[in-house]
Amino acid sequence: MKIFIDSADIDQIQEAFSWGIVDGITTNPSLIKKSYEKVQASGEKISMHDYICRILENAEDTPVSLEVIGPSEKDMTAQGRFLYETFNRIAGNVVVKIPVNPNLQLGGDHRYDGLKSIRSLAQSGIPVNCTLIFTPEQAWAAAKAGAAYVSPFAGRIDDMLRKRLGGEFSKTDYYPAEGKRDDDGNLVADDNGVYSGVHLVEQCVDIFQAYDLDCEVLAASLRNPRQVRECALVAADVSTIPFAVIRDMVEHPKTVEGMNAFCADVVPEYRDLLP
Ligand code: G3P
Repeated sequence: MKIFIDSADIDQIQEAFSWGIVDGITTNPSLIKKSYEKVQASGEKISMHDYICRILENAEDTPVSLEVIGPSEKDMTAQGRFLYETFNRIAGNVVVKIPVNPNLQLGGDHRYDGLKSIRSLAQSGIPVNCTLIFTPEQAWAAAKAGAAYVSPFAGRIDDMLRKRLGGEFSKTDYYPAEGKRDDDGNLVADDNGVYSGVHLVEQCVDIFQAYDLDCEVLAASLRNPRQVRECALVAADVSTIPFAVIRDMVEHPKTVEGMNAFCADVVPEYRDLLP
């Protein structure tokens, strides 16, 4: 499974790439807002154009998803072409992110415009990551329309199921891949047959494998290392992971304890041998 970093923060991107485990970057308008405002708050004056170029240049030739914001097929396709034509020349690594549905609050019935836009961009040879996927059939439709990646939002499905069950939870809490069950093993929450975020990812993978669809399942909205592991176990092609979660993936208290014990045992002759 490939690992993408879900971030637009240059410091995080550079640090994560230095670990040698990152195969790409995903951004969205919320991530860009957070990181661009951080740079502005530091006093640096940089245009949005140059900021995006900086992300692309730091991606070490791996794919970078940039999202459109338009409410219709016409706008999304125009924005997708603009993003690709403007920025792909920087490092040849732009992927255009298109929501499976655009913002329906903006009026009109544009619910199929995501698919139309994917089709149009893909036919022009522009790689598309179809985002905001919450059902396997949305993923399937996006793949058929020509998306190179689909992004099921695992964490947000878990949030929805947890909210239905009531009680307090934090965004990063683990939610069981097998779904919440009662003492008899019966499911207590599902979304039309999807009983966890990882289950959504698994169903997308199963359908794509069964029909040999040429589209990668990019698990998104991941919140903790165990969820990432479970995405790998269900054979997701890619997981896009926030910086803090990638960092947590190499943590274990027994590793620290073990290294402290090894260091305490070092004899002077061994220490002197090493540079
Ligand atoms: O990859 C999509 C992601 O950025 C959304 O994550 O945690 O806001 O659901 P989250």
